[in-house]
Amino acid sequence: MTENRFFLKDAKEHLGKTVEVKGWVYNKRSSGAIIFLQVRDGTGFIQATVVKNEVGSEVFQKASEATLESSIIVEGILREEPRSPEGFEITVKKITLVDVVKDEYPIGKKDHGPDFLLSNRHLWIRSKRQWAILRIRSRIFQAVEDFYQKEKFTRFDTPIITPNACEGTTTLFELDYFGQKAYLSQSGQLYLEAAIASLGRVYDFEPVFRAEKSKTKRHLTEFWMTNCEMAFCDLEENIKVQEELIMYLIKELLEFCQQELKIIERDLAPLKNIKAPFPRLSYDQCLKKLHELGSDIKEGEDLGNDDETILMNHYKQPLFVTHYPSEVKAFYMKKDPKNPGRVLCADLMAPEGYGEIIGGSQREDNFEVLKKAMEKNKLSLKDYGWYLDLRKYGSVTHSGFGLGIERFIAWVCKLEHVRETIPFPRTIYRMSP
Ligand code: 4AD
Ligand code: MG
Repeated sequence: MTENRFFLKDAKEHLGKTVEVKGWVYNKRSSGAIIFLQVRDGTGFIQATVVKNEVGSEVFQKASEATLESSIIVEGILREEPRSPEGFEITVKKITLVDVVKDEYPIGKKDHGPDFLLSNRHLWIRSKRQWAILRIRSRIFQAVEDFYQKEKFTRFDTPIITPNACEGTTTLFELDYFGQKAYLSQSGQLYLEAAIASLGRVYDFEPVFRAEKSKTKRHLTEFWMTNCEMAFCDLEENIKVQEELIMYLIKELLEFCQQELKIIERDLAPLKNIKAPFPRLSYDQCLKKLHELGSDIKEGEDLGNDDETILMNHYKQPLFVTHYPSEVKAFYMKKDPKNPGRVLCADLMAPEGYGEIIGGSQREDNFEVLKKAMEKNKLSLKDYGWYLDLRKYGSVTHSGFGLGIERFIAWVCKLEHVRETIPFPRTIYRMSP
């Protein structure tokens, strides 16, 4: 049905032809007998030039009535125009006004504060910059799927409503499940661990929820995570897969999102320079480095937001921080046989000050050790019995990781805050629109 429909993204193939653009007026300029309408159709942007002498007074009148954000159909000849950012423009012949906006559009040229923009997120997403970020998001989602499929992983959709926590009990969203307590999933990982004995290598890609009381530029309460889990895989191989995934996502981004990256004015050099293998620091080395850089982090403490920023302002490549103290990490991580106070884990930190984008580890595969860790963490064996079962029936060395997609996008787009990377962000202070 849409095969004959013209979209601006295909402008190049229609040079010299008459095209019809269905879209919205996002900007407008006039100089006496010429009106320039800036039109977008969802796939791209174009200038539509309306010359009074050429179109006659009726069409010209319509062009003057087309206010900002009015929906419109313009018909005209597509021409090359090297002076325009798109390289093309339309010489208009005909205009249909679909819906003329009578009120002043709330988002104008002046600088609005973030709160105003977020309250008008339903309109803000129309801006060129937000369009570009959301297009990049869409492409990254596709690239994640492509990567896992290409690497012979099977997609395995884990539940959102769960009877137990995955990542500690402090950030759980609780709900009343027919008189029983249930929680929104913090990560699909535990269920992916069940899947490996059926499917070997699996991944999920879903919204997850954390009642984060933190007010940082890195935290949302609803965000998207892609987890993967691999049977017969140790920490070392887990790290390799992460490097491959990140390199693949960056390659796809640079290849398919050139226009979008240009719109948001991303400096591409730091991204083009990213190269695996990424540097690594053990937790102990990391603490030393942090102290050198001026942090007052104490032995045994988890890295705070500020620590991540200081550390990653210092690095031009993503950095793995490995072997954290078991106290600051989740119960399921495997203890380091060489140093039982540490776990076989690696967090991947993004450069340019961005900090953690991936959390991952080798998992505890020994029934007794895991049972003890669960008891120590006061996890009910009733709720987690099924998870312990996995160590009873064909337990294997296995590992996996979870990438926070908003954090990744914030980095590659070099955004101030993760809230611009998701269509309708949810944070401690906001769940509307
Ligand atoms: O490090 P986390 O908590 O790891 C897990 O959930 C593991 N179960 C993953 C696994 O091993 N399969 O979360 C993974 C990633 C973080 O590195 C971060 O990028 C992102 O999820 N993340 C958040 N993103 C936005 N807002 C928040 N509140 C986030 N919390 C974590
Ligand atoms: Mg983490």
